[in-house]
Amino acid sequence: MSTSVNVAELKNELTELIEAANDLESLEETRVKVLGKKGRLTDVMKTLGGMDPETRKEMGQALNVLKNDITETLEQRTKRLKDEALKARLENEKADITLSTRPERQGHLHPITQTMDEIAAIFAEMGFTLEEGPDIEDDFHNFTALNFPQGHPAREMHDTFYLPDDPTAEGEAAKKLLRTHTSTVQIRSMLKRKPPLKVLAMGRTYRSDYDMTHTPMFHQCEGLVIDKNTHMGHLKGCLLEFAKKFFEVDELPMQFRPSFFPFTEPSAEVDIGCSRKDGGLTIGAGDSWLEVLGCGMVHPNVIKNCGLDPDEYQGFAFGLGIERLAMLKFGIPDLRTFFEGDVRWIDHYGFNPVERL
Ligand code: PHE
Repeated sequence: MSTSVNVAELKNELTELIEAANDLESLEETRVKVLGKKGRLTDVMKTLGGMDPETRKEMGQALNVLKNDITETLEQRTKRLKDEALKARLENEKADITLSTRPERQGHLHPITQTMDEIAAIFAEMGFTLEEGPDIEDDFHNFTALNFPQGHPAREMHDTFYLPDDPTAEGEAAKKLLRTHTSTVQIRSMLKRKPPLKVLAMGRTYRSDYDMTHTPMFHQCEGLVIDKNTHMGHLKGCLLEFAKKFFEVDELPMQFRPSFFPFTEPSAEVDIGCSRKDGGLTIGAGDSWLEVLGCGMVHPNVIKNCGLDPDEYQGFAFGLGIERLAMLKFGIPDLRTFFEGDVRWIDHYGFNPVERL
């Protein structure tokens, strides 16, 4: 029996075996071949018993060091192979996040949301920026600043929902109400920013009314342009451009009918052309008219109430009902159905959130 073993050579041999294993499975086989009960290193260790005490002591120590080294080499190789396997898996395995949800689970956008997005996109292209105001307003922003005198019958026409007075405020600011129109945002914009202004506001409005064409909560869109040389021609051009884009028609007759709003002078109601045949309605050139919005040149008193000089600044404003536009564009016959929360209705009239616009 040989009395000594070349430890360095043995180390090289075993290390090469380990390095040659290219996957975790063959590495495990190698581990058994080296460290197992009948493994190469175990065999060599068994020869220690036949050595003389001096050599045995020396070789014993050297082989223990070798065993530790080889164990560590095996561990490192295992880690490398595991890392490589993971990397290869991550490269090949891709999560398909494009899979659509189950059809019966698909939510829809409400036609109001869709209409507001379409309106905002059209006016944004014309350079309008979005502005906001609160639903809970006060008498000053909803009426007084908009040139509704105290006791004026126009106030009564709004069927206002009044809230309890705010004890922390005084005068008109203490008289709380749910805004009856988005014209409140005209005042907020003029008080907040310096002209030139070109703003659009959209949101909920409230009036105590309920029938086929009225709900106590509805949505309005308000536009306001204030500059030094703004005139009614700008107003008409702006609204015509909007209506043609919104209703997706190239030719659209439009007429302005004189009207009254306390905050605009002159004021007008705007009709667009349409034809009605066999109970159907088509927007565009035709023999009939359809009212779509109210507008006018901002009243000098309103400009003054916001701290601006009406001799220097003029502008126009318009307000439109979002439900009304949605009903016309998407053929929805009854306003009340918008807010009944019937899933079948939203499945029918709603929009796919991914494919819209
Ligand atoms: N605020 C008016 C309404 O609710 C609409 C409007 C807005 C009219 C702006 C003129 C200018 O009826």
